[in-house]
Amino acid sequence: MKILLLGATGMVGSRIAKEAVARGHEVTAVSRSGKSPGEARPNLTAVAGDASDTALVARLAGEHEAVASALAPPRDGSDPREPFTALYTALTDAVRASGTERLVVVGGAGSLLVGPGKRLVDTPDFPDAYKGEALAHHDVLTLLRGRGGDGLNWTYISPAAEIAPGERTGTFRLGDDRMLTAPDGSSRISAEDYAIAFVDELEQAVHPKRRISVVGI
Ligand SMILES: NC(=O)c1ccc[n+]([C@@H]2O[C@H](COP(=O)([O-])OP(=O)(O)OC[C@H]3O[C@@H](n4cnc5c(N)ncnc54)[C@H](OP(=O)(O)O)[C@@H]3O)[C@@H](O)[C@H]2O)c1
Repeated sequence: MKILLLGATGMVGSRIAKEAVARGHEVTAVSRSGKSPGEARPNLTAVAGDASDTALVARLAGEHEAVASALAPPRDGSDPREPFTALYTALTDAVRASGTERLVVVGGAGSLLVGPGKRLVDTPDFPDAYKGEALAHHDVLTLLRGRGGDGLNWTYISPAAEIAPGERTGTFRLGDDRMLTAPDGSSRISAEDYAIAFVDELEQAVHPKRRISVVGI
């Protein structure tokens, strides 16, 4: 499959690139730096570009069967909500214009439900430092569920509350809007295992127009 991966050099994006390339997919890896997310491979092409450039994204998306986004909101201490929504509005418009329908998004955990109508981000122990990013991600999910998702076959994949580089174990569970935890109450996933679930969904497209979540066991 030809995959356009936005945010390919990041902590999560580079694991998705590695997983997809290892499975033989053709990956075009976009970031503003244009760096390669991994060692040179014939099926990996690094491209410098800004995901807010609708003409560029529409052209590139049209040359691929699926678009994957591992973009992160600004982390400079400013409120990321408005710029992240603007970025995803431009991105969804561009993908729609390209004629490619499939869009799979790396999401956030803060909007997962920990009780009826209660999001993880609303809990007292949720770290202040991550609140802006969590709310920005909830806005993106709302955008996809509304007008932003029109005409697109999107899937939004929330990681567990903690995602970090680690081991590729192949052992994880998929959930829905509710936050899943391991028997010890933790909510963790390695970025490598998250990438397996993400590329599975890219290949199989079994959760159209839905948010799913991934947690380690
Ligand atoms: N538990 C959680 O909820 C949780 C935890 C961690 C991460 N996440 C989410 O996972 C996603 C990825 O996070 P991460 O930690 O992997 O981020 P990261 O390491 O900062 O990577 C972000 C990637 O996006 C690229 N990028 C940023 N803005 C761009 C733009 N306008 N155009 C093109 N490329 C752009 C960056 O490269 P350049 O700077 O070179 O463009 C980089 O490749 C984020 O959405 C984050 O919120 C969720």
